Amino acid sequence: MPRNDEFLLRLREANPIETVMGNYVNLVRRGRNYVCNCPFHSEKTPSCYIYLGADPHFYCFGCGAGGDVITFIMKMENLTFTEAVNFLAQRAGLEVPHKDPKEAARARLKTRIYEMNRLAANFYYKNLVSGPDKSGLKYFADRKLTPATIKKYGLGFAPNSWNSLTDYLRSKGYTDDEIVAGWLGGSKNGRVFDMFRNRVMFPIVDTRGNIIGFGGRVLDDSKPKYLNTGDTPVFYKGSNLFSLNFAKNSNTKRMILCEGYMDVIAVNQAGFENVVATLGTAITPEQARLMSHYAEEIIIAYDSDGAGQKATRKAINHFEDVGLRTKIIHMEGAKDPDEFIKKFGPNRFRILLDGSDDANAYLLAKCEEGLDLATDAGKVEVLKRAANVLAAIESPLEREVYISRTSKRTGIDVQVLKNHIDQMLRARKKNLKKSEWRNITSAAYQKDPINPESALHRKESRAEETIICYLLRHPDDAQRMAKEAPPEIFLTPFNKKVYTALLDRMSGGDRFSLSLLADEFSPDEMGRISGIDAKNREFTIDSTVAADCVKVLKEYKSPAGDQLSDEDLSDLFRSKISK
Ligand code: CTP
Ligand code: MN
Repeated sequence: MPRNDEFLLRLREANPIETVMGNYVNLVRRGRNYVCNCPFHSEKTPSCYIYLGADPHFYCFGCGAGGDVITFIMKMENLTFTEAVNFLAQRAGLEVPHKDPKEAARARLKTRIYEMNRLAANFYYKNLVSGPDKSGLKYFADRKLTPATIKKYGLGFAPNSWNSLTDYLRSKGYTDDEIVAGWLGGSKNGRVFDMFRNRVMFPIVDTRGNIIGFGGRVLDDSKPKYLNTGDTPVFYKGSNLFSLNFAKNSNTKRMILCEGYMDVIAVNQAGFENVVATLGTAITPEQARLMSHYAEEIIIAYDSDGAGQKATRKAINHFEDVGLRTKIIHMEGAKDPDEFIKKFGPNRFRILLDGSDDANAYLLAKCEEGLDLATDAGKVEVLKRAANVLAAIESPLEREVYISRTSKRTGIDVQVLKNHIDQMLRARKKNLKKSEWRNITSAAYQKDPINPESALHRKESRAEETIICYLLRHPDDAQRMAKEAPPEIFLTPFNKKVYTALLDRMSGGDRFSLSLLADEFSPDEMGRISGIDAKNREFTIDSTVAADCVKVLKEYKSPAGDQLSDEDLSDLFRSKISK
């Protein structure tokens, strides 16, 4: 057994789950186990169970939270896996052993980059406010940023020099390799130079308050306008959002999404804390999901130019996929929120937010672009485009509302329009088996984000879970199971991943604990795994039952014809609005 696993088992034993959880909630004994009011959702009757047995863990039948003591602390204290391990080690007075050398080096590099980023941000900030070259400060003043805003965002100015930051970091003991790995320096022919020169600097801060990277803007019209930190061990553009560190604390359920750093800062300075931007790329599904943790409704406030509007369409799809309500502001007389606020003030911007269109109204309005409704040809074209939007609206009631609006706008009889849309819908249903899949899969996705495919394979995923449950109770049988039922026979990706991980951790024939999974699975996923066990408590699952389930999986044949490739599926998840 690897040293790390050995330590995790010791850590778990030194931190009995009932003692640790008892510090946060009132536990009531029930038979051999405990129950309590779940600390992760509000409830009056306890539905959170703590199972003591060989592998102590908890599971809440109300909200599905669950896992071992490490998962509990991760969720409760909002920590990463490593942080939770350190937290519990400290609590029990254990020393965290060194990881394997490669991993330790990587962890150390991350820490060093965070430190360097903090030093660099300070360096840029000091240089902005009190350096000899005032051009950065003048730039921000021209753009009407207040000193308070500059301080709040820790904005800075990178001097027009090839070596001032690198020299500074070297003087603090950082090596050239570290400086380059953190993207603060570049290297050419073995010489290291400042990556950001003569640019105003925007530090990017994650939700824990770490500075993970920078955007740097030129002071004039030269190119490239922005230089952004590339991928480093602590920074990946597609998974973070600018200003989320502030937006996450605003207590509205709405979040405003802008295109650029300057827009975000202007909107924030105007009194809206709940505003973010992506980091120089189009929004990713991961970012949409991240936003869904903090908001229920998104208002897209992209630039009013063509690129901004194209990006808006894409963003709408991503937000729909994660179940976020989406609205789009309709900005006239300004190219972006920054300019709008400067021209018309915060109050008008608030009115703009409140009057924002929902996604369907926005898409319908777009159908008229470049066409003349006064001509018959224009009308026909608008209707063609609008019909596609209307037919894609899933809720019949909502569809009705927009059909009637479109009929008023175009002067087409409402019944004629409705018949046309109904016909389209019928044709689609018949011809496109895929679209049915899409509906099933996207609905399933919203119901079960952890293992959406289970809705497509109810019987098989049930069998998979039973096998997982069997393994959890009989870790000593792992080797035989690995031969008898290799992971390939699993159909649903999440269950396959769990099963593979279990076989892997159990292969040594050593003791097993859920704690050994906590670094690979998120707290939500750990909850699901605990649930698989908790929901089967009443049942006897012996090797005969397991064998039956294996048979179900082995005998599974994909129904001919309507099977989609993984690519098709992910396409369908992505694009819900047909062109
Ligand atoms: N961007 C980038 N690289 C560029 C141009 C833009 O990474 N060469 C990213 C930046 O994150 C920028 C965003 O795209 O914030 C939006 O671009 P743009 O609208 O051009 O910049 P603004 O932030 O609005 O800045 P400004 O108001 O100064 O034009
Ligand atoms: Mn802009």
